[in-house]
Amino acid sequence: MALEGGAEAVRATLRNSKLDESLYSLDEEESAFFKSLTGIDDDEALKQHILKVQNDAFEVWPFPCIRRFSFTKLKISRLPAYPQLLTLGKHRQGAILLDLGTCFGNDVRKAVIDGFPVRNTIGSDIEPAFWRLGHELFNSSPETFPSTFIAGDVFDPVFLETHPLPKATPDDSVPKLDTLTSLNPLQGRVSAIHASAFFHLFAESKQRELARAVAGLLSPDPGSLILGVHAAAPEKGIRRAAGGEKPFELFCDSPESWKEMWEGIFEPGTVKIETELKEMPNSAQSTGIDMQFWEMSWSVTRV
Ligand SMILES: C[S@@+](CC[C@H](N)C(=O)[O-])C[C@H]1O[C@@H](n2cnc3c(N)ncnc32)[C@H](O)[C@@H]1O
Repeated sequence: MALEGGAEAVRATLRNSKLDESLYSLDEEESAFFKSLTGIDDDEALKQHILKVQNDAFEVWPFPCIRRFSFTKLKISRLPAYPQLLTLGKHRQGAILLDLGTCFGNDVRKAVIDGFPVRNTIGSDIEPAFWRLGHELFNSSPETFPSTFIAGDVFDPVFLETHPLPKATPDDSVPKLDTLTSLNPLQGRVSAIHASAFFHLFAESKQRELARAVAGLLSPDPGSLILGVHAAAPEKGIRRAAGGEKPFELFCDSPESWKEMWEGIFEPGTVKIETELKEMPNSAQSTGIDMQFWEMSWSVTRV
């Protein structure tokens, strides 16, 4: 997989790092979620099942989020804007949810459990092996979990092209989701776009390019939203950590610069942008990267 910016450095840093099962811990809600979806009731059996899939996924690509079990953390449902997403799924006819950089599809599954119609959901990732491992993780199949998966690189215009923002929802019919091979036919039609632990993989200029392309997918109808959580910092800039084969670098927005980026994409007064910055414990043990970091939950809502 060829990735930009911080991601290749992460790979170099983590290639030789061992998985650490002491990082596994499910709270009550996470445990109930996994037990109900996998059908595995026994705590130890569930743990061994999750460890096996984690190990297989780490072989595919050693993302820190896989190492620290962040796929078990019900990330999407803990975002402040999550109730808005569920409202769209319940009350907007045909509302589509797209999860970018979906990995195992855990966040899509959470939204589906909470009521978003599964046939209107799409997971997308450059690495289809993760989606297949998601079926293994949740003991499901494309028949029992009929969410659409579309593989592709968000920086490939054949897969995701940047378009001017639509002024109105396109009035031709929505293409059948399970026939899609790229995101391009969805321009202006997606009601909710979730992108967690995704933007921060890329260099600053690439994040700007990605945001513009993603904004083009969003439906202009009021209430449509883009949301996620990722690494950020009180001051915008590149953060560096030593310790790997290559020095590790991560471009972090501040809440202000993140807001400015979206304000530069959408016309003034057409979106409400919300952010929440939280300081996290040093990530050395959980990711192998010795760095102080912050997480920013954010949402961009069409008004
Ligand atoms: C750090 S994981 C985040 C997974 C999940 N969203 C979460 O929050 O736990 C990043 C995901 O983005 C995918 N990815 C990386 N670069 C990509 C690209 N250029 N286009 C599409 N997906 C990409 C990876 O394969 C991986 O599944």
